[in-house]
Amino acid sequence: MHILTRLALVGGLLLGRRTHGEILTTNYDEYNAGTLGHRPYQKFRSVDEFGPALLVTKWDKAATIESSSTTSKTGGSHIFMRHDGHDEVDHEGHRIPNSHSSHSSPVILDADDLSLVYVNRSFHNVFGARIQEDRGTRYFTFWAGNNIGGFGDGFGLVYDSTYRLIYNVTADNPNHVDLHEFALTGHGTALVAAVEWLPTNGLLQKWPSLDDHRHLSGARLLDSRFQEIDLATNKVLFDWRATEHIDPADSMEGRSNAWDPYHLNSIQKTQAGHYLVSLRHLHSIMLINGKTGDVIWTIGGKRNVFSELPAPDGSMTTTRSLLPNQFRWQHHAHYVPGTNETQMTFFDNYAKQTSHGMCTRDCSRGVHMAIDSNPKSGPPTVQLLGEYIHPAHIQAQSQGSVQLLSQEKFGDNVFVGWGHCPGFTEHNATTGEVVLDVQFSPWPTGFIRDALDNYRAYKMDWVGTPYWDPAIVLEETNETTEVKNKEANVASAKDSKTRTEKVTTAYVSWNGATEVKSWTIRATRTDTKKGGKVMAKSSRAGFETAIKYKSSEAAGNRYIWAEALDKDGKVLRTSPVVDLGEEMLGTSFRLTKTQIIAGVGVSALSVVAAVVAAGVYLWRRRTGYHRLQAGDSDEFKNGDDIELNAERDKAVDTPEDAVHVIGSDSENDEDDNDNDDADTDDGSKTGEDAPLRG
Ligand SMILES: *[C@@H]1O[C@H](CO)[C@@H](O)[C@H](O)[C@H]1NC(C)=O
Ligand SMILES: *[C@@H]1O[C@H](CO)[C@@H](O)[C@H](O)[C@H]1NC(C)=O
Ligand SMILES: *[C@@H]1O[C@H](CO)[C@@H](O)[C@H](O)[C@H]1NC(C)=O
Ligand SMILES: *[C@@H]1O[C@H](CO)[C@@H](O)[C@H](O)[C@H]1NC(C)=O
Ligand SMILES: *[C@@H]1O[C@H](CO)[C@@H](O)[C@H](O)[C@H]1NC(C)=O
Repeated sequence: MHILTRLALVGGLLLGRRTHGEILTTNYDEYNAGTLGHRPYQKFRSVDEFGPALLVTKWDKAATIESSSTTSKTGGSHIFMRHDGHDEVDHEGHRIPNSHSSHSSPVILDADDLSLVYVNRSFHNVFGARIQEDRGTRYFTFWAGNNIGGFGDGFGLVYDSTYRLIYNVTADNPNHVDLHEFALTGHGTALVAAVEWLPTNGLLQKWPSLDDHRHLSGARLLDSRFQEIDLATNKVLFDWRATEHIDPADSMEGRSNAWDPYHLNSIQKTQAGHYLVSLRHLHSIMLINGKTGDVIWTIGGKRNVFSELPAPDGSMTTTRSLLPNQFRWQHHAHYVPGTNETQMTFFDNYAKQTSHGMCTRDCSRGVHMAIDSNPKSGPPTVQLLGEYIHPAHIQAQSQGSVQLLSQEKFGDNVFVGWGHCPGFTEHNATTGEVVLDVQFSPWPTGFIRDALDNYRAYKMDWVGTPYWDPAIVLEETNETTEVKNKEANVASAKDSKTRTEKVTTAYVSWNGATEVKSWTIRATRTDTKKGGKVMAKSSRAGFETAIKYKSSEAAGNRYIWAEALDKDGKVLRTSPVVDLGEEMLGTSFRLTKTQIIAGVGVSALSVVAAVVAAGVYLWRRRTGYHRLQAGDSDEFKNGDDIELNAERDKAVDTPEDAVHVIGSDSENDEDDNDNDDADTDDGSKTGEDAPLRG
């Protein structure tokens, strides 16, 4: 059987592409108008989970970097981010405006097809999900805990490649680990950020400049701390407090009775054993002495000691320099791996407001710069090598990340996470050109205040083989086919008859598995995993693959299971066996619904599950970007969820439609700038700038 299946599989492998059945849309306007919801998502049948429904505005696949050949270079088979809960609905199914969800998840996407690979919504809040290395072993790590008005009380989590928790790191601090950083040094230790409120009065002797602050009623300030912790014992090896080394008067942040003068948001240990930190509210990147805790040097802000060299000949034109004070409210400063600490990247938020489609010289940007902190003569220098602006001209008031991706033979790309603005982009490092542009929620506006955001996005190599087994759920439906009257040469409605038969769809997935390339469904009469008749095969089509076969072909076979296969066709793992014997209602499967799907040809059923991947290359390229109009209100369309699932079914059932475009793509890309609705976020949601309560 299934010659078609085999042909299709071979074709797919020859072309070196994979398929997906995820919901992706290319309709920028509808997506950003909130047509798919403020937090668009898709549900799955095989597991009780949901994943993001993405907008892909640009994808020049040949120009993206996927895997690295050497360890010193970073490539990226997968994309890492967090995904917070979907829109909350009331018992009548209406969206609750600005509702919070407590289902935050670290999310892994396959960089090859943007399909979901891993999701786990067991956490209140998740920050900084990525792959980190410790003594030669790669781990999946993230911060999880409670987000209290923009600061964290949580723990740093380290999972191995089977997703077993190996380390659960805490800080010696009243609020445990803050959400802003959890970084492995690679040498058996972790760096954690921490925050602690201190009464201003107690600091007056050290910092007389605080005299005018103490007069505010109940004046206190938020100390920024970081600690280096031994992974095995949780012992604190180094403990640093900003209030012991930095005059709060250097802050660029307006004073209040609950003042956050420093706002530490990234830490990296250097080769010499010092610490590179980003202090957002000082507009400064600093090197902290690993023995004394003193500041060795400062880039930016009031204590800058660097001068800026002109950009190298032939480099891209940029909108602004680095100094003096040309980067502000920045995030995620770190040395570029493999450059011996001569290059650095960081996210320059610049604005403390959120907008899109409006900024010109004052947009947020990813920054790539050269740094010489110890020149033979003259002052230390920085030099702007590249600047990465979002094509929608974004200002992100908080969060954000920048990562240089390298491939020896290919050159460099830059991967930028846009923080408060829910998207990530990949750029050619030399030209700045966008080669990938993805959103996972509409841009936040005055009308869409509950859009998602994401602290950092990373693109990294990862091989995950979960300790749990793949999941399978079966569903039986009646499918109606038209049977043409063979005798009649003229096909007319009169001559055709319909035939209805039962079709089984197996929904299979393996949360976290990165190596699955195809699936096989097998059936036997006896309860054994040996042998078994092959019912159907399919290449992986997204997080969940739907595989169909005629129920009659499985007649008499009571036991059904799925095999997950790697790229060489080797079975990686099998799912639990579904027992159809007990009234088709065994514990490990459910028969969710029956319905008639008209017009699906029987011959197509065996190759269902979208084997054709050509659609991946059919992304329409857009160069113009709209900003939303006031009229694009956030009116909730009832039943978004159902609509999305319907779209998804369609994508799975019609192979030639593997990339599903929701709605039509408007050709009218003219920017319209006459309607100012710049969103100055009030910090009432997960904004970082809201004061810490409690
Ligand atoms: C980036 O653009 C330059 C100039 O067009 C090109 O030579 C280089 O190959 C591009 N890099 C990548 C990674 O595609
Ligand atoms: C999700 O995380 C929870 C809490 O750490 C853990 O118990 C569970 O096994 C995880 N599940 C998956 C699928 O990773
Ligand atoms: C990490 O440890 C803390 C404190 O013991 C605990 O509350 C939390 O559940 C742990 N996290 C996980 C994922 O096990
Ligand atoms: C890295 O930089 C340090 C300090 O400038 C220098 O001593 C060392 O030789 C460099 N290492 C390599 C591999 O270039
Ligand atoms: C499917 O077809 C069977 C008979 O072939 C019928 O008993 C059943 O009601 C049908 N299910 C639906 C949902 O139409």
